[in-house]
Amino acid sequence: MHPLAALAFCLCTAAMAAAADLRPGYYADSCPQAEFIVRDVMRKASFRDPRSQASVMRLQFHDCFVNGCDGSVLLDDTPTMMGEKLSLSNINSLRSFEVVDEVKEALEAACPEVVSCADIIIMASRDAVALSGGPEWEVKLGRKDSLTASYEDSNEIMPSPRSNASYLVDLFSKYNLSIQDLVSLSGSHSIGKGRCFSVMFRLYNQSGSGKPDPAMELKYREKLDKICPLGGDENVTVALDATPEVFDNQYFKDLVSGRGFLNSDETLYTFPKTRPFVETYRDDQQKFYKDFAQGMIRLGDLQSGRPGEIRRNCRLVNANKHSFIGYGGKNMEVS
Ligand code: HEM
Repeated sequence: MHPLAALAFCLCTAAMAAAADLRPGYYADSCPQAEFIVRDVMRKASFRDPRSQASVMRLQFHDCFVNGCDGSVLLDDTPTMMGEKLSLSNINSLRSFEVVDEVKEALEAACPEVVSCADIIIMASRDAVALSGGPEWEVKLGRKDSLTASYEDSNEIMPSPRSNASYLVDLFSKYNLSIQDLVSLSGSHSIGKGRCFSVMFRLYNQSGSGKPDPAMELKYREKLDKICPLGGDENVTVALDATPEVFDNQYFKDLVSGRGFLNSDETLYTFPKTRPFVETYRDDQQKFYKDFAQGMIRLGDLQSGRPGEIRRNCRLVNANKHSFIGYGGKNMEVS
């Protein structure tokens, strides 16, 4: 069995066993203000930097796909552990970790060592969508934070912008996620930005042809050619749809008119199995909202079943006699 398939299988079976432990209102007694605190910090972050909503929401995908929703994506590297932040999909791309830190600080001040970083990602992602004008949903909570993170697993699992819809249907199915989940969750690209790096091959050398992707609408391509010239700065960013601060179904309208930014986005329209969902969401924003919320809950159910803890700082595992923590350039054995 392919290692990813084996992992996904074990994740799905573990998810079924462990997801039962997740429930709404998990912190009702231990930290009744938890959800208000998260929403408040997210609201302040959106005033400072509207894109932070998209960036925080993306963390749910990158956390949950790699060994379940366990806050592993938030761990900084240490001398003995290379984490997920520098993996192929995450380096120079994942951002707004400081917003999660801010949420954690506020929660630690109110209820020390109660709310996990993994749950913060789940609550903050829900809030990011709601604060951007999208749907609201009730989140299930009670996750633990991982004791480690894996650079290799992130590299192995996270899809690249070159992925096409057929590959993504297979990938999502390994997590028990349906075609509907794939297309509705891709609607997360209704907010936020991507780098030129992620579109260059579509502009200048699609599938090694030396030519642009024919699925891209001409005017849109001309616009991207100017923002992302060959040999230019690949870290320049471009909106993922025409309304990048509003969580709406504009993304699906854009896909239908050949204005999808990523290959993985546009192929959702060109691939026959995913196309009907794109058309439905283009015509029916409420249906998109409903399926998206359901998809986020299903994504949030992925659990590894491994042991965990409530981290005091989302970037570090808690110090105990077995831990070896690199901090500020110095290594210290903690006992
Ligand atoms: C279906 C497969 C997916 C692929 C191949 C994919 C790939 C990407 C890529 C390449 C970028 C731009 C990164 C860059 O250029 O720096 C991006 C951005 C983003 N992704 Fe995805 N993604 C997928 C699914 C998802 C899902 C399921 C979510 C959330 C539930 C999500 C949320 C986001 C958000 C919000 C952004 C913008 C982030 C920002 O502005 O900082 N993506 N994605």
